[in-house]
Amino acid sequence: IKKIAILTSGGDAPGMNACIRAAYLAARNEGIEVIGYQHGYNGLLKQDFVEFEHRDIRNLIQRGGTVLYSARCEKFTKEEHRIKAAANLDEAGIDGLIVIGGNGSFKGAELLQDIWDKPVIGVPGTIDNDIAGTDYTIGYHTAIQTAVESIDKVRDTADAFERIFIVDVMGREAGFIALNSAIAGGADHVVLPETFESAADELVRILDKLDQRRKNHANSSHIIVITENLWPGGLNILCDSLQTETGIDTRILTLGHVQRGGSPVWQDRILASKLGAFAVEMVINDERGRMAGIRHRYPESVPLGTSREDRKPLNHYSMSMLDKITLLG
Ligand code: F6P
Repeated sequence: IKKIAILTSGGDAPGMNACIRAAYLAARNEGIEVIGYQHGYNGLLKQDFVEFEHRDIRNLIQRGGTVLYSARCEKFTKEEHRIKAAANLDEAGIDGLIVIGGNGSFKGAELLQDIWDKPVIGVPGTIDNDIAGTDYTIGYHTAIQTAVESIDKVRDTADAFERIFIVDVMGREAGFIALNSAIAGGADHVVLPETFESAADELVRILDKLDQRRKNHANSSHIIVITENLWPGGLNILCDSLQTETGIDTRILTLGHVQRGGSPVWQDRILASKLGAFAVEMVINDERGRMAGIRHRYPESVPLGTSREDRKPLNHYSMSMLDKITLLG
C-alpha cells in the first residue's frame, strides 16, 4: 500500500479533524502517503484533492469543522458517477479510501465498494449517534456538551421569569442527543422520536408532568427537551398549547447548528484518534466495505451495511430513569 485517500461527507461533526490527523499520522508511520478529497464525494468526482503534509495536521486535533470541507453529494446516487469516482481513485494511484461520515455517506461508500477493487472503509462521524454497529459516533459527545451548556444558561432566565422552555435539539430521527442532554442538563421532560406516538398523547404526558411538579412544589420553571422536527406542525403549536393549558409563559429555544460546531471534547478526540488509526489498519489488512466502529472502548471492524440495518436503540435505563429523577424538580 502506497497511498490512501480520506474524505469527510454529510453533516460535519466536531472531531472529524482529529480523525483526519490520526489517520494521516498512522499512515505516515507506515510510510503511506495521504491525500484528502475536498467537499466530500464531490471532490472525488472532480479530482479535487490536497496532498497532506506534516504542517497540515499541526494543531488539528482541537479544531471543529473539517479542513477537508463537507457536502452531501446527490450525484453519487447515480452509478455513472460512482464509476467515474473509481476511475479517479485509480488515476490518482489510491490503494484505499476512508470515508468519515454518517449513514448517507456509508451508503455511497458501500455502492462504491461494489465497483472498486480496493478497500473502502467508513468511520462514523455525525453528532446524531444514529449509526448501528458502533457505541458512539465522532461529534456526539461534543454536541451533548453544547446542548447541556445551553440548557444550563436558559434555565437561569427560565427560573427568573418562572417560564417553561422548550429546547429543540438536533438528532435527525434519533433521540440520543435529546435524551442525554436532558439527563445531563437536569431537564424535566424529554420528547423522543423513539417513544413519540401522537401530539395529543405527548401533550397529555407533558401536562401531567408539569402538574405533578407544581403539586410537589417543584421549581416553577420547567425545561422540556425535544428532538428536532418531531412535533406535527412545528413547536409553535406545542408552545401555544402549553401556554394556554398551564397559563405559564412558554418560550422555544432552537439550538440548531451550534451543536455541530466547536472544539471537540476529549471523548470525541479520543474516539476520533482510535477510529482514524484503526481505519488505516483496516486498509492495510485489505478489509473491504467495512466500518471502524467502537465497542466497549475498543475499535471493531463491522460490515458497512450494519450501520443502517437496525435502528440503534436508546439506553432503556436512561429512558426510565429520567422520569424517576425529575418528578420533584
Ligand atoms: O446529521 C447531522 C445533522 O446536524 C442533523 O442533526 C440535522 O437534522 C441535519 O444534520 C441538518 O442538516 P443541514 O446542515 O443540511 O441543515
